[in-house]
Amino acid sequence: MKSKACMAAIILWIMTVTAVGWLFVKGWTTEGSDGRAEILLAPVERDQILAEMRLLLKAVDGIIRGLGEPLPDLKAMEAAARGAGMDMARDVEPTIMAKLPLPFKQMGMSIHKDMDALADAIAQSESSQQILQRLSSMTARCTTCHDMYRFGASR
Ligand code: HEC
Repeated sequence: MKSKACMAAIILWIMTVTAVGWLFVKGWTTEGSDGRAEILLAPVERDQILAEMRLLLKAVDGIIRGLGEPLPDLKAMEAAARGAGMDMARDVEPTIMAKLPLPFKQMGMSIHKDMDALADAIAQSESSQQILQRLSSMTARCTTCHDMYRFGASR
């Protein structure tokens, strides 16, 4: 009797660990109507991430605009990159984090890390070409992630 209860506890434990591990890797997703993985977020959570996305595009815009100027405003470009750095990522709530698939989190975090590195590079007066190279390695990730995922609304 005792060993049966013990067995049941072990099975339950394995199931829980598997479920948590599965959620950690796959996130809260389903297949979207266009074939991309659809991450199911509550409407406010989706709004929050989309607002973050628009800030990312503003950061990219700020840097490219700066590069296009004959006399780039390095301070403004540095601030644009820094604004999309790791500080931005720290605001994301754990409940949202739990629903995001592992590759999504990895790509997202790498963008924030690289934005900080880009801000440092601008402060150290790297050449326009080097700055563009850093930026394009990030925009490649923007498009990769957009090809893989979309957001859907859940309760
Ligand atoms: C880790 C994945 C990921 C990365 C990296 C990423 N995005 Fe997104 N982004 C998404 C998803 C998912 C959506 C929602 C797409 C959908 O539902 O069709 C989105 C939407 C957007 C939107 C639309 C916002 C709105 O209000 O509808 C913009 C703009 C955007 N992203 C810009 C960017 C830029 C610029 C970068 C790179 C600097 C970037 N994203 C990197 C996943 C990502």
